[in-house]
Amino acid sequence: MVYTTAFYRSRTTASPTDKGLTEDYLQRDHPYGADREPRYARVQSSSFRTKHMNEAIKTLIHYQQYYHECFVKIKLCGKPGEIERRNDDVKTIVMQLDLDRTKTLHVMSVGCGNGTKDEPVIDNLLTNYPNITYTAVEPVADELTNFKQLVISKKDTWRNVTFDFHAATIEEFLQNEQATKFGMIFAAQSAYHFKDVERTILDLYNCLVTGGILFTRMDCGGWAKLSEKVDEYYTIPDHNSIGADTIEDIFNRIIPNVRYQTKEREFWIDVTECFDEESQLGSCIIDFCTQIYKFQENCKPEIKKQILDYMRDECCKKENNRLLLTSNERDIFIFRE
Ligand SMILES: C[S@@+](CC[C@H](N)C(=O)[O-])C[C@H]1O[C@@H](n2cnc3c(N)ncnc32)[C@H](O)[C@@H]1O
Repeated sequence: MVYTTAFYRSRTTASPTDKGLTEDYLQRDHPYGADREPRYARVQSSSFRTKHMNEAIKTLIHYQQYYHECFVKIKLCGKPGEIERRNDDVKTIVMQLDLDRTKTLHVMSVGCGNGTKDEPVIDNLLTNYPNITYTAVEPVADELTNFKQLVISKKDTWRNVTFDFHAATIEEFLQNEQATKFGMIFAAQSAYHFKDVERTILDLYNCLVTGGILFTRMDCGGWAKLSEKVDEYYTIPDHNSIGADTIEDIFNRIIPNVRYQTKEREFWIDVTECFDEESQLGSCIIDFCTQIYKFQENCKPEIKKQILDYMRDECCKKENNRLLLTSNERDIFIFRE
């Protein structure tokens, strides 16, 4: 496991003429209204600048039920021990929150899905904050139904947690309910789907109380590399092909003197089945890894080959005749001062 800590890190800031903003992006429907242009440069990625020239392809997130089925399957292709390692890291991070423990702690989770990843966050927060309100924002109502089941199953442990479920995107939520301030905001693996990553990150940061923590989790390593590769060939509407580095860059660029820390875990996903066109499991995994709906059917054969070759040669390691994609995760937690 790699452990990194970064205080006051700074990175190269893009010039205004190098913002990577494309016409199609500026014309996209915007939750804040078309008259308000993005205040900050959007995500910097080499491929983003050429995105407008690429053909659009069907995006997995537009098929919500199938998206979540694939997400469940991909989680089963990991190596043992990941959950424990992730939970240990969550504990370390949560313990750094230092607010008044006699007051109710307000927490928000952004794109919580079925709440599985929220469970250790809530459990650990409860050890220091006996009263919590937990606002769960997730556009897929079925996922929230599963989260509610989890709440019922934990009713004894979580009896002092008041849940507030919102079947909405974060953009919809922020537009309507900006009054509450939160002590912790947890956004695990959801920034890929934000309409305007920078603006939403800044809006979330501004929703924190002083001393609060914005806790994000993103992929890095082979999976992030694969996303960039896919981006070279296709535009995937409503999906940001970004990784943890992009989120750090955004923090550094838009929040002056930001103090944050990172914690990275090494994970591997068995993607061997993706190379068997007949495999249903492989089909789900490659769809989730690329975020392309029905990759095997919808990609052009020559592009499909190039993406799969790249994944095998540049993003995977071989172990016992299996191909393992590095899908490292980085937790980035930023303090509001
Ligand atoms: C990769 S899943 C992560 C789920 C969960 N946080 C986890 O770590 O397992 C991404 C989640 O973001 C949700 N999502 C998609 N678009 C969103 C948006 N605009 N705002 C908030 N959440 C969104 C998806 O429905 C999905 O549940």
